[in-house]
Amino acid sequence: MTFLITAGPTQEPIDPVRYISNRSSGRMGYAVAEAAIEAGHEVTLISGRTCLTPPKTAQLIPVTTADEMFAAVTKRVGQNDVLVMCAAVADYRPAQYSEEKIKKHTDRISLELVATPDILGSLPRERKFLVVGFAAETSGIEENAMNKLHRKNLDMIVANDVSRSDIGMESAENEVTIFFRDGNSKKIKRTSKEIIARELVKIISNMKKNV
Ligand code: CTP
Repeated sequence: MTFLITAGPTQEPIDPVRYISNRSSGRMGYAVAEAAIEAGHEVTLISGRTCLTPPKTAQLIPVTTADEMFAAVTKRVGQNDVLVMCAAVADYRPAQYSEEKIKKHTDRISLELVATPDILGSLPRERKFLVVGFAAETSGIEENAMNKLHRKNLDMIVANDVSRSDIGMESAENEVTIFFRDGNSKKIKRTSKEIIARELVKIISNMKKNV
């Protein structure tokens, strides 16, 4: 099978030295890429900026912004069997980019933000590839994840609780619940992101076989 996997944060520039971003390390997405390769699949990894070393045999597409990630996914998704959208895409970017470094003139300034494209939300509803989303939530995990699954027309969504500091963003471990379209769910108890990634790849491969 061919996997298109996104990972890491996007960075949305404000001026030549500043950007807004989020705490995603990219570890979960890189672990899914590694696990998919280990299981004999072909992997294209679209990655925001991270400190990680990508798997040697993955085709790496480096991106920085949500717009770049959107373009990279849109261009390739149709040639793959699965899209695993693990990246923490910024929902907003600065409305304007300043070519000059912004100087400190006053005590208070405000930054106007505009929405970035919703990559999953823009995929065709009729398609041959499977779509796996992620949901990082601080409360109402099941309700929020199920809402996203339906709103974004996903085949499955992997939800985790980012209010906990021992799992998820910036951590080596995670604990996730996977929700499926038919209302079923599966919990993977706290363990390394590598073990979770292997389990996810297994579930995805089985789902694809049964489509
Ligand atoms: N996602 C995306 N495009 C965006 C933002 C998010 O494709 N512009 C994807 C993420 O990669 C993830 C899923 O959508 O797989 C859910 O991301 P999340 O940020 O939790 O969802 P949002 O729709 O942004 O909802 P909210 O931030 O309001 O919780």
